[in-house]
Amino acid sequence: MSEKLSLPIGTTLSRFIRERQEQFTYASGELSQLLRDISVAAKVVNREVNRAGLTNILGKHGAQNVQGEEQQKLDVIANNLFIKSLSNGGEVCAIISEEDENITDTQNPHGKYVIAMDPLDGSSNIDVNVSIGTIFSIYRRQSPVGSPVQESDIFQKGTEQVGAGYTLYGSSTMLVYTTGHGVNGFTLEPSLGEFLLSHPDMKIPTKGKIFSINEGSAVDFGQAVKNYVSDCKKNKFKGRYIGSLVADFHRNLLKGGIYVYPSTKSAPNGKLRLLYECNALAFIAEQAGGKSSNGIQRTLEIEPTELHQRCPLYIGSKEMVERAESFIMAGE
Ligand code: AHG
Ligand code: MN
Ligand code: MN
Ligand code: MN
Repeated sequence: MSEKLSLPIGTTLSRFIRERQEQFTYASGELSQLLRDISVAAKVVNREVNRAGLTNILGKHGAQNVQGEEQQKLDVIANNLFIKSLSNGGEVCAIISEEDENITDTQNPHGKYVIAMDPLDGSSNIDVNVSIGTIFSIYRRQSPVGSPVQESDIFQKGTEQVGAGYTLYGSSTMLVYTTGHGVNGFTLEPSLGEFLLSHPDMKIPTKGKIFSINEGSAVDFGQAVKNYVSDCKKNKFKGRYIGSLVADFHRNLLKGGIYVYPSTKSAPNGKLRLLYECNALAFIAEQAGGKSSNGIQRTLEIEPTELHQRCPLYIGSKEMVERAESFIMAGE
């Protein structure tokens, strides 16, 4: 009995990736290696996040990113760590990031994959010890291997993702990912430094009782969104909003719920970024049996035309997203 308790439960992430490799469309091992590189970078970012209060890396970096947001030191640190790790790995030819205005050429012309990432999601929560995360999408390049990276490699619809995931630096650190064969969640065992399978084959309940929206912006909402929020209240749903998309999404994935970042008067396309935030979570939501849309169109089918393109987001339990869509489609 005691022997059982001292053993960690769960397969290690590396073993899981290796055993699932044959499911990949291109089972050459590079995607497996890429996923392992991401998990190592995530562990390094996790270490920095955990001791941030002790190492003078809290607070503002002193510059704005292309989104017009004040960058935090950890935004920049996480961005650099992921870019370095993915560039060294060799499987990735280009990286696009919320924190970088332009495409990063990793100088690996033979890399077969492109990464889109939000290196640190939930910046406003960094300094107050509230959950934050990293979000990533993996695409296969369209142009021939060995040639310069083309726009067609970058501007791919979410349906073209070959993998997507997030890490959550929360009360425990988790990595959740999909390669299109369901969703699996791994918890970091800190004393071993290993991600262990803790949430196999994750499924989101088809309906739930949680709605997550920043009601502080309600005066800016259109009438349809206001009507939907009233509907949630009439149904006595619980309002839960952390302000870190990845953490709000994760909770709703486990418990059932909907996360909404709507279009507003001042931001008609909402705030969240299609390529760095919405597509990855939409892929995971769908793979878990949930749904994601901009209110009228499936997120994964939105045509990207700009690197930092934004879109409204309605994501989570299938029946809840469909109900929200019925309000948006009905209009004012
Ligand atoms: P990021 O920190 O990567 O810029 O993302 C912030 C996003 C998201 O995490 C969160 O849900 C949302 O911004 C919160 O925005 P509001 O403060 O407008 O609610
Ligand atoms: Mn930001
Ligand atoms: Mn974000
Ligand atoms: Mn971010």
